[in-house]
Amino acid sequence: MDLDETLLMTPGPTFTSHRILQAASKPLVHHREKEFVKIINESYEMLRKLFKTENDVFIITGSGTAAMDAAVSNIVEQGDKVLCIVSGKFSDRLRDMVKNYGGTPVVLGVKPGKTVDPKLVKEKLEEVKGIKAVTMVHNNTSTGSVNPVRDIGEVTKEHDVLLLVDTISSLGGDHIDVDDFHIDLCFSGSQKCLALPPGLSFISVSQKAWEKIERKESKPFYLDLLKYKKSYPQTPFTVAINMVFALDESLKMLFEEGLEKRIKRHEICAEMTREAVKALNLEPFVEDEVASKTVTSVKIPRDINIPREIQRMYSDSKKKMRDKALRETLKKYGVLVAKGQSWKISSDEKVDLLGEIFRIGHMGLVTPKHIITTITALELTLKELGLDVEIGSGIKKAEEVYERRLNELRK
Ligand SMILES: Cc1ncc(COP(=O)(O)O)c(C=O)c1O
Repeated sequence: MDLDETLLMTPGPTFTSHRILQAASKPLVHHREKEFVKIINESYEMLRKLFKTENDVFIITGSGTAAMDAAVSNIVEQGDKVLCIVSGKFSDRLRDMVKNYGGTPVVLGVKPGKTVDPKLVKEKLEEVKGIKAVTMVHNNTSTGSVNPVRDIGEVTKEHDVLLLVDTISSLGGDHIDVDDFHIDLCFSGSQKCLALPPGLSFISVSQKAWEKIERKESKPFYLDLLKYKKSYPQTPFTVAINMVFALDESLKMLFEEGLEKRIKRHEICAEMTREAVKALNLEPFVEDEVASKTVTSVKIPRDINIPREIQRMYSDSKKKMRDKALRETLKKYGVLVAKGQSWKISSDEKVDLLGEIFRIGHMGLVTPKHIITTITALELTLKELGLDVEIGSGIKKAEEVYERRLNELRK
């Protein structure tokens, strides 16, 4: 790490490692040659283990949104009713995509920071006849809450509708079992829990999803999943070859650590973060019961002092001032966190969390030592912004959690 390097504690992109970057810098090989096909095949085998599925899995060149787009554009036809569970910015994006491809979104809105009740999903599917699919985000990156995907999978299976799940900020950091959860299209991306640079996304496709995809008349071009199936294990278009080298290395690292242990590490980092912020008299945005293992949202105190230069620069908005004061000061102490996002639940219900919360990402290669660094920077920031904090009280709590749970990482 360079001395002046900022520690990326955002919920993606997250920092990567020399081992991954070295793999990405290997000399280029041709993507139709057997040397490369061997590597991509190895990655596919590990991806299926990660998704826990016997379904087809594909690598798409493009950020996470490319795989979201592939899922929706291959399934949704003109007039199709789709139940969209809107619980944050990215599930709002899925709803927009459904609309974009001519579908009719039936929205089940979730209050910010809360999670969807599977009973309501069941009721909606029974009340609105003819729903073809359900879209949802597993781990709400915008709030730090987790939706009960397993229970929703039971409901969609019972009602014979397709289930499309965004696991972009949870695959590799939380429990996902595509087959056991009955997920028909499950998609994820590279720059989150796999700690890769951005640029690749992944999607799994069930037999039930293929039946719908094959019947669908209009097909996307670049993201046509049937083309991916036909070319498999190669890709229909030139894949980001060096990113596949990096993916192969990152998946090897993941299975060397062990998936279960990796999830435990994420869980411990999350608990350290939550307990530390509480000890600093800050309030996590979501309840412990629904808290994410990969991102923690924290309310920004109303009574922070805003530095003069920030008051001058953002005089048009108190929210921006609060956000900038908190995050720029943290950055000065070497740690970058993310701002609050905005989205719409329905046309007359909008959410804007800018200046209300900040989000600490603890995914990918984040370990307890990075949490300690982050909490140190947070304590200094709060003190500098005029809050009455006891320096060391957050660290003490984080260390207590670490000490209590250390053995779980050693097993
Ligand atoms: C849950 C979720 N879905 C989708 C996306 C969009 O992914 P990308 O920015 O890689 O296109 C993100 C990115 O933060 C995300 O967290």
